[in-house]
Amino acid sequence: MSLTKIHYSLAILMLLLSLATMPEQYKQGQKIDAAKLGELLFHDKILSRDLSVSCASCHLPAFAFADTIQFSLGIDGQPGTRNTPSAMNVLARRALFWDGRAATLEEHALQPIANPLEMDLPIPEALKRLNDHEGYSRYFMEVYGKAADSSSLANALAEFQRTLETSDTPWDRFALHGEEIDPAVIRGKAIFDSKGMCLECHFTPDFTADEFKNVGIFDGINFKDVGRYGITGDSTDLGRFKVPGLRNVAITAPYMHNGMFKTLHEVLEFYNDTRNFVANPINQDPLLKEPLGLTENEMDDVVAFLKALTDDRFAHLLD
Ligand code: HEC
Ligand code: HEC
Repeated sequence: MSLTKIHYSLAILMLLLSLATMPEQYKQGQKIDAAKLGELLFHDKILSRDLSVSCASCHLPAFAFADTIQFSLGIDGQPGTRNTPSAMNVLARRALFWDGRAATLEEHALQPIANPLEMDLPIPEALKRLNDHEGYSRYFMEVYGKAADSSSLANALAEFQRTLETSDTPWDRFALHGEEIDPAVIRGKAIFDSKGMCLECHFTPDFTADEFKNVGIFDGINFKDVGRYGITGDSTDLGRFKVPGLRNVAITAPYMHNGMFKTLHEVLEFYNDTRNFVANPINQDPLLKEPLGLTENEMDDVVAFLKALTDDRFAHLLD
């Protein structure tokens, strides 16, 4: 047998195995809803061509549904070209992906499945697998009253992701209920709002308004990702990326669309004087053209504030 044939037979074998093993909790005719169905699908490698990758392979639940490496590996170990963002706190988003190419979670959900670098499974084939699957065919019937189609598959994944909200953080408890908090956090928030100018872009409860901005990581030579411009073709969008939300950011390193920074402190050093990192940025936001002049202590305070945006369930990961 040729290598490809062995590969193919293995894939079939794994498919059969996965068909036989359904998550225990839904076996006995228990009620399932769209979000629970979406949760099963999010974790299931059945949605990748050779059954090797699930959404959760890149969006690690233990790390706020982000990845810990610069570029996640998709099918056949292929690295992507952008850093994997958290799939949490997406309920209020008006734009998804770093370049905002999807407007809703439904519009987004099928793209990684079909993407040749990620899961590489044509949607008709994904639907066939689900409808041939004893468990899934029943669940889709129960939840949507019909066999799985592209809109119900997208909806189930979206409904699950809409449940991944965080508000259980030291910062929320301080801001909403006046609970005691480290003074460094309060100092850090004041710098975030004023001298650091972070709030100019990172505002609203999730610290993003889903706008596109260019912080200065595009020079056309060493940093070539054009970002939003690739979608709109509008030259004012050159090098602009979606302003990411900052909830749980302390545990979703590395940072930026290209994962170029390993720590939050490095991100602060970047903002403090971006030219030390990218000497000749193109179309940089005027807010960041001059150094901010933050001291080491001030940068540490901002980092303390960002750490206070961590959901309690991930607090054990903070140093
Ligand atoms: C191989 C790794 C990989 C897999 C598998 C994967 N993703 Fe992603 N995901 C990424 C990367 C990388 C991005 C950013 C891509 C970009 O912006 O161009 C992303 C972006 C997202 C976003 C946008 C978040 C935001 O704030 O803009 C969501 C939501 C998401 N993925 C959900 C999913 C779902 C649902 C699945 C499974 C159907 C999935 N992902 C499978 C790597 C992956
Ligand atoms: C001009 C708008 C703007 C300002 C001002 C700004 N940011 Fe950002 N921020 C962005 C954008 C856009 C990105 C994504 C940039 C990229 O990937 O190229 C980003 C990325 C980040 C990230 C990485 C998040 C991740 O998940 O990778 C952190 C952390 C961050 N900003 C914190 C801050 C802090 C702290 C300040 C103030 C010192 C600040 N930002 C000021 C727009 C801004």
